[in-house]
Amino acid sequence: MPASIIDGKQLAEDLRKDIAARVQALAKRGVTPGLAVILVGDDPASVSYVTAKEKACAEAGMRSFERRLPGDASEATVLDLVKAFNDDPAVHGILVQLPLPKQVSERRVIEAIRPDKDVDGFTPENVGRMLLGERCFLPCTPHGVLKLIERAGMSTKGAHAVVVGRSNIVGKPLANLLIRKEYNATVTVCHTGTKDMAAHTRRADILIACAGTPGLITADMVKPGACVIDVGVNRVDDPSKPKGWRLAGDVDFRAVSEVAGSITPVPGGVGPMTITMLLYNTVESAERAAGA
Ligand code: GUN
Repeated sequence: MPASIIDGKQLAEDLRKDIAARVQALAKRGVTPGLAVILVGDDPASVSYVTAKEKACAEAGMRSFERRLPGDASEATVLDLVKAFNDDPAVHGILVQLPLPKQVSERRVIEAIRPDKDVDGFTPENVGRMLLGERCFLPCTPHGVLKLIERAGMSTKGAHAVVVGRSNIVGKPLANLLIRKEYNATVTVCHTGTKDMAAHTRRADILIACAGTPGLITADMVKPGACVIDVGVNRVDDPSKPKGWRLAGDVDFRAVSEVAGSITPVPGGVGPMTITMLLYNTVESAERAAGA
């Protein structure tokens, strides 16, 4: 039987209704949640992410403050912008779109963000708090992945979760969250140094692909009935498409759907959830600032 499709778009819409209600409650107190977005350069994937984030903000009744800098902007320029947003009371969340051009240190820029406005959950303080299980902003993509697994009706408790990828943004935090008592999964992390990856992935009740390699996960690597979450968003050449490319995940969707129990599509799976969790963190930050 083919896998059921986990509809990230629908789940995102459901959660955004709750977020919109919280925005309305804040409006009665004269507060509008504000998200500042800094984009350096014109990488097409980053431009489309940032555009989608700003559109979602507007739809949720939030303000967005957008600054687009040229690709040759200096680190000092980016740091000055971050500092200005840190000090601006109308800004409750600051997002610096990654990756940054090579003349700008990602580490120094992220460390400059006030932790209480770090709605991406990327600052060392928030990463440390997450690791310790203390109150913090959870990073948006891992948080969205956990919601998708829940929506699929898959319990993480006692499950073997295999995470393929070890990025700071997705793989590492996700593995860490899954071993929390509340999720109670047993976690294996695969990466480029892993020998015989398929031997690990075939043992996964929950398989999360976040390596950034199109089509990495093939049907023979998946346990029948597994819940498969595809975090990959890769542009692959496709002359049959008007733009000459299409989006592809890290999972060979068509073949894996014949084996898995449930699976997220690309697009329409993880992507809308990442943006939703960003809105969630921003409204949370505004509530904290308003003492709500
Ligand atoms: N680049 C790719 N994903 C993300 C994300 O979730 N946040 C930021 N700031 N940059 C990204």
